[in-house]
Amino acid sequence: MFRIAYRSRLTKGTNETDIAAIIKHAVERNGALGITGAWMICDDECLSSIEGPPLAVKAVAESIWDDPRHTAFRLVAMEHTDERLFEGWPLNLLDPGALKDNPKLQDHAGVLWLSAFEGGIDGFFGDALRYHH
Ligand SMILES: Cc1cc2nc3c(=O)[nH]c(=O)nc-3n(C[C@H](O)[C@H](O)[C@H](O)COP(=O)(O)O)c2cc1C
Repeated sequence: MFRIAYRSRLTKGTNETDIAAIIKHAVERNGALGITGAWMICDDECLSSIEGPPLAVKAVAESIWDDPRHTAFRLVAMEHTDERLFEGWPLNLLDPGALKDNPKLQDHAGVLWLSAFEGGIDGFFGDALRYHH
């Protein structure tokens, strides 16, 4: 099993309809390939991770970094692992609304691992998120 994490920024003009289309497609494709993952969005900033069989992760990562709906793709982590952090999530969209609606997500091991690359949940989401603990 292989896992990557990356940063990127939505391109001007990429809107909620585009994001919904990406998720719909990603859920199908990731599901078929045995990939799980999470996608954090705050304003235009994205922090995301996908994990699964190495060749599948490589193929999907190549289409992601070529995707004109975002820019400034930057790999922040790449590791081999025996365990999934995002079990059951073909690609879970984590925006401030999703985290507020389900505060337990803020303690999820995968969410903690991913957000740690950008100063934790508070660091990445900043003022957009107030804790519900
Ligand atoms: C930030 C971001 C994350 C994405 N994540 C995924 C993903 O996890 N899986 C996926 O299949 N496509 C994802 N996409 C969409 C891909 O870039 C691409 O459009 C899609 O995989 C193309 O699939 P196709 O080759 O089957 O047409 C993402 C796009 C963006 C902008």
